[in-house]
Amino acid sequence: MTQTPKPAGKRLFVKSYGCQMNVYDAERMADVLGPEGFAETADVADADVIVLNTCHIREKAAEKVYSELGRLRVLKGERASRGLDTRVVVAGCVAQAEGAEIQRRMPVVDLVVGPQNYHRLPDLLARARSGPVVDTEFPVEDKFDHLPAPSRQVMQRRGVSAFVTVQEGCDKFCAFCVVPYTRGAEVSRPVAKVLADVARLAEAGIREVTLIGQNVNAYHGEGPDGRDWTLARLMARVAEVPGIARIRYTTSHPLDMDDALIAVHRDLPQAMPYLHLPVQSGSDRILKAMNRRHDAAAYLRAIDKVRAARPDIALSSDFIVGFPGETDADFEDTMRLVDRVRFAAAFSFKYSQRPGTPAADAGEQVAEPVKAERLARLQERLEAHRQAFNAGALGQVMPVLVEREGRHPGQLVGKSPYLQGVHFDAAGSGLRIGDIADVEIVALSTNSMTGRLVGERASAA
Ligand code: SAH
Ligand code: SF4
Ligand code: F3S
Repeated sequence: MTQTPKPAGKRLFVKSYGCQMNVYDAERMADVLGPEGFAETADVADADVIVLNTCHIREKAAEKVYSELGRLRVLKGERASRGLDTRVVVAGCVAQAEGAEIQRRMPVVDLVVGPQNYHRLPDLLARARSGPVVDTEFPVEDKFDHLPAPSRQVMQRRGVSAFVTVQEGCDKFCAFCVVPYTRGAEVSRPVAKVLADVARLAEAGIREVTLIGQNVNAYHGEGPDGRDWTLARLMARVAEVPGIARIRYTTSHPLDMDDALIAVHRDLPQAMPYLHLPVQSGSDRILKAMNRRHDAAAYLRAIDKVRAARPDIALSSDFIVGFPGETDADFEDTMRLVDRVRFAAAFSFKYSQRPGTPAADAGEQVAEPVKAERLARLQERLEAHRQAFNAGALGQVMPVLVEREGRHPGQLVGKSPYLQGVHFDAAGSGLRIGDIADVEIVALSTNSMTGRLVGERASAA
């Protein structure tokens, strides 16, 4: 084969919707196209390849893609009139769910590519030069084996905190959810591969890793001993990688919150005191209809155990209001559970009917105004608990991982162990991005905290 010169100076624009998995995947797409001569741009008008990395979880999220594609049609036309070629790519979960249908609706799209095929992007883009291409296969090869590692500079540019996918897909089949269809069956990456990724990140100066998976606490990757390792075991090994000061993981399912993982929160200093454990509803009837396979009491027992292991832990959750058949009494059960747990943070949504999911065809859909009213009440309560949790930080000294410089000279911005944003004056301190500083919280605002530097510890957690 003759060597063709790499096209230099091409620009890539990726816009991600949805969950952290998509944020991570967007980086992997940039990594796979980097060696092909693509540099990322933040300006869509400047891009030779535009990727919409889509989310199918709720109707609104999925519909956003089509309005965005309408705008891209105009942009592509304008660029063409200047003699510039543009490839429009739809990736992510809408791509997986709707496939060729997207191109039928929106001929502006050159390539539709599902989440399991990002390693094939260079080849797919080349093929898309001569006509529309769709690739939503679940290939036999492991995409992770074919995704190149980013350069040291690229890793550093992305910040001191990184996501690492350890598990993908879901076998739980909650009645409302598209993820088992868009991301496929649960697959865990082998321990050695995860550790290699973490070591590479740590060598580039990354201090915090968040191990991600749709059901991350169901992790059962092959260990060096040939056996399946749990997430708890994996975390203990990740903690041994020099430079890694903080470990987080998301998203967990209540059923997989085993004792070993709970003990990690007590025993492993690098495990951050934060747990995102979606419950969706506080009503046993609704939980059953959702196929969550646990009741409210089991969820609360898990929470109690976690709190016994790590009393200061911040808890967060996801909620759905207006699931088919949800009555006022069911909703009050949710409010009761919220008051009992007092979450530090939460995401809450109106139930959205998703094609192909069991709940979509269930009778008794809840009327839109009822959903809206329940959501408003729930969010008000969740916000009160969030503020109460944050108020508890006032006067405390916390280790803050410095992420970036602030708006004012000498100011640094970072995160507390509880994922709270903290800014503080560090003028003359010698603190750098990636350091961990002891900071006393002196004032609160709605979305951030003001701190006062009381000590520096460059390498400890
Ligand atoms: N794997 C995670 C999260 C999946 S999606 C888990 O098990 O919880 C993130 C959140 O979106 C869910 O927790 C749920 O609260 C919400 N969600 C999923 N499907 C939805 C739907 N059809 N309508 C409204 N919210 C939904
Ligand atoms: Fe969706 Fe349920 Fe799987 Fe979470 S556990 S991804 S909500 S099916
Ligand atoms: Fe959305 Fe897919 Fe994530 S549907 S929430 S982007 S797994």
